[in-house]
Amino acid sequence: QPPGWTVSAEIVVVGSGIAGLTVALRYAELVPDADVLVVTKDELCAGSTRWAQGGIAAVLDPGDTPGEHLSDTMTAGADLCDEEAVRVLVTEGPDALRRLIDRGARFDRDERGELQLTREGGHRRDRIVHAGGDATGAEVQRALIEAAQAEPRIRIIEHALVLDLLKDSSGTACGITLHVMGEGSEDGVGAVRAGAVVLATGGMGQVYAATTNPAVSTGDGVALALRAGAVVRDLEFVQFHPTVLWLGQDATGQQPLISEAVRGEGAVLIDSHGERFMAGVHELADLAPRDIVAKAITRRMHETGAEHVYLDGRHFGEAKWRSRFPTIHAVCREHGIDPATEPIPVAPAAHYASGGVRTDLHGRTSVPGLYACGEVACTGVHGANRLASNSLLEGLVFADRIAADIAAVRRGPGDPAPDERPSSLVDPRTRPRVQAHMSRGAGVLRSGQSLSEVRAALVGARWTPVAVEPRTESWEASNLLTVATVLAAAAGAREETRGSHWREDYRERDNVRWRGHLDVSLTEEGL
Ligand code: SIN
Repeated sequence: QPPGWTVSAEIVVVGSGIAGLTVALRYAELVPDADVLVVTKDELCAGSTRWAQGGIAAVLDPGDTPGEHLSDTMTAGADLCDEEAVRVLVTEGPDALRRLIDRGARFDRDERGELQLTREGGHRRDRIVHAGGDATGAEVQRALIEAAQAEPRIRIIEHALVLDLLKDSSGTACGITLHVMGEGSEDGVGAVRAGAVVLATGGMGQVYAATTNPAVSTGDGVALALRAGAVVRDLEFVQFHPTVLWLGQDATGQQPLISEAVRGEGAVLIDSHGERFMAGVHELADLAPRDIVAKAITRRMHETGAEHVYLDGRHFGEAKWRSRFPTIHAVCREHGIDPATEPIPVAPAAHYASGGVRTDLHGRTSVPGLYACGEVACTGVHGANRLASNSLLEGLVFADRIAADIAAVRRGPGDPAPDERPSSLVDPRTRPRVQAHMSRGAGVLRSGQSLSEVRAALVGARWTPVAVEPRTESWEASNLLTVATVLAAAAGAREETRGSHWREDYRERDNVRWRGHLDVSLTEEGL
């Protein structure tokens, strides 16, 4: 569909979570006459950021060091983190967090006014700041939205789904096309021309049937990047959060998270016989890195034939549940569970894409002028398994770097070259089919056979019997199908078990053949 209208901006940021809004705000701080456009596919607060519970990891305690944060991150990442990227993360993290506080985010403090720090899986120190007990993301999102809305040099278009990247004749990004579901002059399919494009579209959890991600997390940024010829890295490393409230076998879509911070404060996992099972699995027991805990839970579920295990925090008592974990307490009560008197049924569910669009240390992708920030990106800090509460931190740190990199160049947009590729929209009914296939064969536990079956099923799902109307649901379904196809191919190719990628047929880590990244681009995948 040709664009019906065009707007221009110096930079266009796609997405309005912690990564996108921080790029926009930092750019406005650095460039006095900045002209930033933020486009977001739903309302400003609809993405994953506001659902984050636990917090933001940063070295703030005088007894902690960046070296220890680096070491915990690298260990969780199962030998696949890029050390330089992790060093950037842990050394620049504290200042990036302070800037977030200056922008208005209010974190929980003790009676002396010091930031309260807690612990989560894989951390050997208390270094997680939190807000509203367990509502960190909601507070961060609130503060950033208020700051962005108060900044006249940032324009915002909501309900605007990004479609494709515009490139000039040299292959440099010069804007995007998008579909706006509004009622103004910018409505329908249009184009934004800009000197730099920043993807901050979040994750792809909706590629699975059960996930902690909201409905908007459909891999739009990764799918766009693939169509634009950008390199995507390590998509096989999907992190399954170990403790997601179990709402029954047929529960699909976004499921309530039970933060790792609950275990950080002393809750423990027990099986259906009431037995603890993490001691002996890892020296950190219930606070082992996330992949280890998710695997141990899955194993225990198989051994006992149960569909879930339990998280036991009864000893906290009602008052602590209400004050320290008000969100989780409320959600449990909503589902008829009283965590002060009964253990909470939990099971792993898809949570975070550790891979994404490959970037360098300044957020630059392999397409000039195109940047990626936050969950959509693969900066190298997460390796095969992200350390808890490093995701909001990554968004902050690399957003600042991207803003600085763009500000240093301040390139104007080139002229978009015509794009002759045929559109390949799929029927929106493909979405639940993709999710069911992915959960069945490419979930916590995979094998060569299960992944081949998924890949065959996804090829079948591409077939659409009717002409597909170009609307959000069909674009989302197409994006999900694209990222699922690449994810399943990458998971099939990586013949080892590492971090959150668990192959039943290759049960060991293979540092001889596989201690490296898996890069994919559309041409290679032949999608
Ligand atoms: C949690 O609170 O357990 C989630 C934090 C994270 O994903 O880093």
